[in-house]
Amino acid sequence: MKLFLRIFLSFWVATVLMLVAVIGVSEFSTHVFRGDGVNLFEPEVAASVLANAVNEYERRGAEAFLSDITINHNDVYLIDEHNRVLAKSGSPPPFYLPMARGVLQSGHSQILRLPTRLVFACPIDSATGQHYAVILTVGGTGFHVLRPRFWFNLAIAMLPMSLVCMALALYITRPITKLQEAARRLSGGDLGARCSPGGTVRRDELGDLARDFDGMAAQIQLLMTAQRRFVADVSHELGAPLTRMHLALALLRRQLNGRAPGELERIDRETDKLSNLVRQLLLLAGLEAGVYPAENLTPVAIRSFCDSIVEDHGLEASQSNRSIRATVQDATVMAYPQLLRRAIDNVLRNAIRYSPSGSEVLLNGRLDSDAQEVVLEVMDSGPGVPESMLSDIFRPFFRTAPGREAASGGTGLGLSIAREAILRHDGTIIARNREGSGLLISIRFPAKTVLAGQDRSTAEAAAGV
Ligand SMILES: Nc1ncnc2c1ncn2[C@@H]1O[C@H](COP(=O)(O)OP(=O)(O)OP(=O)(O)O)[C@@H](O)[C@H]1O
Ligand SMILES: [Mg+2]
Repeated sequence: MKLFLRIFLSFWVATVLMLVAVIGVSEFSTHVFRGDGVNLFEPEVAASVLANAVNEYERRGAEAFLSDITINHNDVYLIDEHNRVLAKSGSPPPFYLPMARGVLQSGHSQILRLPTRLVFACPIDSATGQHYAVILTVGGTGFHVLRPRFWFNLAIAMLPMSLVCMALALYITRPITKLQEAARRLSGGDLGARCSPGGTVRRDELGDLARDFDGMAAQIQLLMTAQRRFVADVSHELGAPLTRMHLALALLRRQLNGRAPGELERIDRETDKLSNLVRQLLLLAGLEAGVYPAENLTPVAIRSFCDSIVEDHGLEASQSNRSIRATVQDATVMAYPQLLRRAIDNVLRNAIRYSPSGSEVLLNGRLDSDAQEVVLEVMDSGPGVPESMLSDIFRPFFRTAPGREAASGGTGLGLSIAREAILRHDGTIIARNREGSGLLISIRFPAKTVLAGQDRSTAEAAAGV
């Protein structure tokens, strides 16, 4: 059955159920509410009761008149032909006197339905031939929606309707939520994400959508895997000739016995660059294809871990007149030390490379407020990255200014490797420009198990990979 038909039928059933409940409750419920008095009010009966009360007034006075009218929560006023109030149970509002005059002149009773009560004005001729007007107010309301019974009926009727609608909403939204989650995982790099891994049995539009989505995800996975395999194979194939070229160059240099021409140095440098590129490509392909089960996560004491990385980069930084400072919280978290180190290495190397001479690079590390996530931030005071390119710099071979960076010797793979390494931790890595100038790279990943304090031995083991 198509989704349209299901929604239509569900609403239809809900409406019928509601009607049945309303009619059933109002027909068969015997409970009487305060406001029901209005509906039970009968002008003829009221007029004869009031006529008796007026006769009583003439015989025994106002007290007798008031005590004769026994309906609860009512106000009653007795007014004579000269518009004098002869008996009253409260203070009459101003419009009562004109109303009394009106019924005395017309000789007909009048009913006024106000939101909170009903006002009945009735002309009465007493046994002695005197003309009076009596005004009686009956509590409750003349409007259905303001009566408690209406809301009572509605509440009962709403119950089955709400249940049917809730089931309907769940029926529609559950597969959409699953689809959304799968799409999010897929865009986050999890190529194995599927909407319904075991296949869906639904035969409606949502079932079709889930099947189409899963088909599309499978196709993307196939293409990406083929592309990665191609890159890995090419890199692998390039490895052997490059090694032979290195050997041949070394042999040539030895034969020339220190009289190597400048061109040979150039060939040497370019071969080094090529080898580096192939190494990085193989590394990236390995990260993308690798399987990292949660059991292999290792406790890492982040403070000593980061200190050791900073120490390694210290020399490189000081040679180019820059410095690095680390402020990292004392905590132990679960991570893949080798991958984490690779990610921080690449980010720090960029920060040193792109920051001005004499400046300081900062590495901050902490657990977020509820200790669920590790937050590592690397800040420099370089030129930063144009806002529109902040997410592109994590793509392989992306450069903000190709000429300048190609000259700097980078392969353009550093941040792609860092991103893959952090994705393996189920984490995220983002870049944003700092106020003033400089780039901030923020790495976040789940801390999983957070042990209090620092464990030097595991930290050193982790750092020394
Ligand atoms: N701290 C930074 N400040 C300014 N630009 C940066 C910074 N970090 C990265 N970028 C920009 O992002 C690009 C991609 O960085 P990535 O680390 O991936 O490559 P690379 O540094 O050029 O080469 P590799 O890291 O492979 O040696 C860089 O070329 C540069 O344009
Ligand atoms: Mg780099």
